[in-house]
Amino acid sequence: MCGIIAYSGKGDAAILAFESLKKLEYRGYDSWGVAALLANGKKAFSVIKKVGKIGATNSEFVKQAIPEQNHMAIAHTRWATHGGVTEQNAHPHLDCRLTIAVVHNGIIENYQGIRNSLNTPGEAHEFKSQTDTEVIPHYIEHLMQKEGCDFLTAARKAAILIKGRSAFVALNSETGQMFAARKGAPLIVGIHENNSEEFFIASDLTAFLDHTNKVMYLDDNEGLSISNGKIDFFDIETGAPKQKRVVDIHWHGKANLEKEGYDHFLIKEIMEQKYTIAAAINQDDEKIQDVADAIKGAFGTFLVGCGTAGKVCMTGEYLFSKIAKKHVNSVVASEFSGYQHYLTPKTLVVAVSQSGETADVLEAIEIAKSKSAKIVSLLNVFGSTMMRVSDDFFITNAGAERAVVSTKATTAQLAVLSLLAYAAAGRLQEGKLLLMNAASSVNDMLNPRYEEHLKRLALILQDKKDIFIIGRGLNYPIALEAAIKLQETCNIHAQGFAGGELKHGPLALVGPDTPCIVLVANDDAKQDILNNASEVKARGGFIIGISPENDEVFDFWVKVPDAGNASPIVNIIPVQILAYNIALLLGRDPDYPRNLAKSVTVK
Ligand code: F6R
Repeated sequence: MCGIIAYSGKGDAAILAFESLKKLEYRGYDSWGVAALLANGKKAFSVIKKVGKIGATNSEFVKQAIPEQNHMAIAHTRWATHGGVTEQNAHPHLDCRLTIAVVHNGIIENYQGIRNSLNTPGEAHEFKSQTDTEVIPHYIEHLMQKEGCDFLTAARKAAILIKGRSAFVALNSETGQMFAARKGAPLIVGIHENNSEEFFIASDLTAFLDHTNKVMYLDDNEGLSISNGKIDFFDIETGAPKQKRVVDIHWHGKANLEKEGYDHFLIKEIMEQKYTIAAAINQDDEKIQDVADAIKGAFGTFLVGCGTAGKVCMTGEYLFSKIAKKHVNSVVASEFSGYQHYLTPKTLVVAVSQSGETADVLEAIEIAKSKSAKIVSLLNVFGSTMMRVSDDFFITNAGAERAVVSTKATTAQLAVLSLLAYAAAGRLQEGKLLLMNAASSVNDMLNPRYEEHLKRLALILQDKKDIFIIGRGLNYPIALEAAIKLQETCNIHAQGFAGGELKHGPLALVGPDTPCIVLVANDDAKQDILNNASEVKARGGFIIGISPENDEVFDFWVKVPDAGNASPIVNIIPVQILAYNIALLLGRDPDYPRNLAKSVTVK
């Protein structure tokens, strides 16, 4: 949530920061801004701030706005937390003297107290925004003006003072120094391959992968400074120097970051499921077996995730029950603290997250670690915070997921959890075969004719106010996930239910033509879910069956392959395509749903 990028080197800093910031747009797209430090002894900033998506602006605009030479810049794309979406609230924020510019990601829980402390009879600071961030440049200014601190010491003291998960970069126009601090939100440094004096600092390495594969990861409570082209790392609390290892990142195909001829990332990523499911199950068998054995042997296993990943965890609970006859608990990460009383050093927490940066999941991990529980993560982003704080991890191999709406990462997570369930049952090879068959069925399914069929359904559903989705067993959590897809992509009120629950209340909402998507698999829940569909139809509902076979209760049939226990994977894909096509009909932006951001780094 919010994306930060900073650049220091011989290049055109404002343009490099601006172009890199575009790659972080998925983290927030309310507004954006750049501050560039002008060269040739000017000791001043040139600042641009705009409301709206950065993707809508080209670099020509930045060149015209900042025509002067500059070699240091910071930039930010915002997902509003404190203060509305206005130019004043867009970052960078500056101090009163306009010599310190700051970009920030996260939340400063104690900002109000800091702000109050800066406005005393003897000292008044002019705040121009309603943001929490603005206290940082003013506090640094206060320390430099009133307490005689140098810039780097003042910035480090500001980093110590602020509470809450965040990261920030501060730039000083008078000294030409840059300072960055990580306190719970990601910050990664890229060093140019051929120039050890050229640096990128970003919330996500995808921002600078076009320029370098060489990265250094900041850990929590670590900071860095750049002065005269030299970078230094240190502990924020003590100031003690830190050594950092340079890591070569080769897992992330650069081409994966572009739309490659598709109109949107969302449809590109849906189509990539032709091969990402096969990539997801390409795991080390021994490691899968070891973790499956650990799940079996643990005194309580918790699958923890948020949103879509939370629904994957819920599916995991059913998979383990059905395949391995093993009880595991799925818990929404933001509710995990309520379960801390059950945690012991023999507990295993399996964290599921595309980004590996979600604050609620990180907090759950912290709670689990405080009880000495073991942590295994299923992640899509190599090098993410979760990977670094877990005892073990699997990478789901879906490649960079740029659309805010998760698709290919979801099916990859489902595939890895299924493998673990089969391994826990001592049937890993059987599970692999099942998933390989599912992957090849998905490959056959994702053809233009299939999309045409779903476009016809999109035309029928585009003007509906409510859509129900029902499923049972393995497909109950997928009904909940299908609802999330329709909510965020189309902004339609969609709600998922366990098929059996309708008659306990929600059936009262069904009227003539209420659409109800029914997720069917060839399993022991099939007859019951078809009966539930009939109950909806008897009350006038319009039944859309997502099912391997047609049935007389369906008003519209979407065929899916008969994938056995991999039915959650194949059943969600038509809903993803449907949501994309309804969004297009309604004129929504499928890649950037309103009010959302991809990497949710606030609680
Ligand atoms: C919905 C979606 C979100 C994420 C959730 C967790 O399409 O993408 O619900 O699943 O924000 O994000 P990660 O998986 O990065 O932890």
